[in-house]
Amino acid sequence: MPLPAEVFTPRSADINPKMYVERPSQEKSVRQALLRDSNFFMHGESGSGKSWLYKKIFAEKRISYFVIDCSKATEAEGLRPAYLSLVRSLGVLKKTSVSDERLATADAIVVKGSQRQTTIKENFEQDPLETLFAAVRSNSGKKQAFIIFDNFEHAINSPKKMEDIASAIIARDNSQYDYYNVRIAIVGVPDDIVSYFSKQNFSQTISNRIFELPEVGRLTGDQCKSIIERGFFELLKYKINVNKEDFVRFLVRNSDLIPQHVQALCLEIAIEAHERNKTIDIESINTGVRSWLRGSLHSEYARISARMNKRNSRRQRRNQVLYAISRCSKHEFNYLDIEQIVKNEFSDTQDVAVNVSGTLSTLAQGENPILRRTPDSKGYRFANPKTRICAGLMLHLDEDGVVNRTLLDGDDGVKAKWLS
Ligand SMILES: Nc1ncnc2c1ncn2[C@@H]1O[C@H](COP(=O)(O)OP(=O)(O)O)[C@@H](O)[C@H]1O
Ligand SMILES: [Mg+2]
Repeated sequence: MPLPAEVFTPRSADINPKMYVERPSQEKSVRQALLRDSNFFMHGESGSGKSWLYKKIFAEKRISYFVIDCSKATEAEGLRPAYLSLVRSLGVLKKTSVSDERLATADAIVVKGSQRQTTIKENFEQDPLETLFAAVRSNSGKKQAFIIFDNFEHAINSPKKMEDIASAIIARDNSQYDYYNVRIAIVGVPDDIVSYFSKQNFSQTISNRIFELPEVGRLTGDQCKSIIERGFFELLKYKINVNKEDFVRFLVRNSDLIPQHVQALCLEIAIEAHERNKTIDIESINTGVRSWLRGSLHSEYARISARMNKRNSRRQRRNQVLYAISRCSKHEFNYLDIEQIVKNEFSDTQDVAVNVSGTLSTLAQGENPILRRTPDSKGYRFANPKTRICAGLMLHLDEDGVVNRTLLDGDDGVKAKWLS
């Protein structure tokens, strides 16, 4: 029987085929992008499943791809060190069936007996990009080949990295490079990629040369359920002694339909359940949630706690508003949406003026805001999905209808409320 961390892998860059849930519409966009003979750009929130998505489709289509992780290189050196270490790691060539003088030269660039490392270095110094393309082509045979600049958000503040990426994209216009037929994909969080290149005066050139996929967004409820079902019940074969539908609903709601968060929350609960005779019960859910709050949600927890009213303050308006936004089903909301929830939940607000709009505005200000205004300034949304998840899990009402937060090492809170 597998262990929890072999099933739920929220931080794994490698795709686990047993846990991968199909995402038909997103997958279709990637397949179609592959049919165009162009580079492509894929974006979406951190943890939304971009890397797993391209890895799934590339494996299925037997596409040869090599990842340059933009988060690894340092600002000053740009991406060259990453190119060099990739070229070095590509190892002994599989001889390609393409018999062509230039490709033979490419092979020679990459390996040459004991002189290999020096040859690589010399060639690399002359033309890093060509050496990279040649190495990629030599290791790809006749297959389609891609270089993927992943975690692009880590490149946007580095003119040097941006220049390296732009050069790789533009290179395809030049027959010297296009010869190797290596395509480029950029994968990252920001949505408007062209605007980042515009700072470097490349915008026009780039926008013509890269095809943008629709955003990789949230999972559907069913996709989310299928991660839970497969992980806990098909692979781990755990027992459950709470209502299963309620349990699944709880996980779906509190992971905000983001694949990484679904897997992270499941992992915490599974680790607890493992110790409890492989049984999911109230205790394992409680303790699992608390470990998650203490671990990866730690800074969100602190940020929300800092905005709460003092425990003994007579009126708890800010807490009431915080609670209401954590229970609001809309991703974008305005003060009317929140006011309605406040009035429904808290009897002491019935006949008094509650300054919801002022409170929301305060929550969007300061150094670590909880909310952000929407681009049209008419409403608000959470500063990021983790803040939303954290608020939903940490805030609850006690028997007197007062807002409380789950204490990280106490034994309160979630227990009573996780089903609601
Ligand atoms: N289709 C999927 N099915 C199941 N789990 C997924 C899927 N896509 C992503 N995940 C989970 O989410 C985590 C983050 O996915 P990843 O592709 O690395 O996100 P991104 O690249 O957008 O930051 C993965 O490690 C995995 O646990
Ligand atoms: Mg990724």
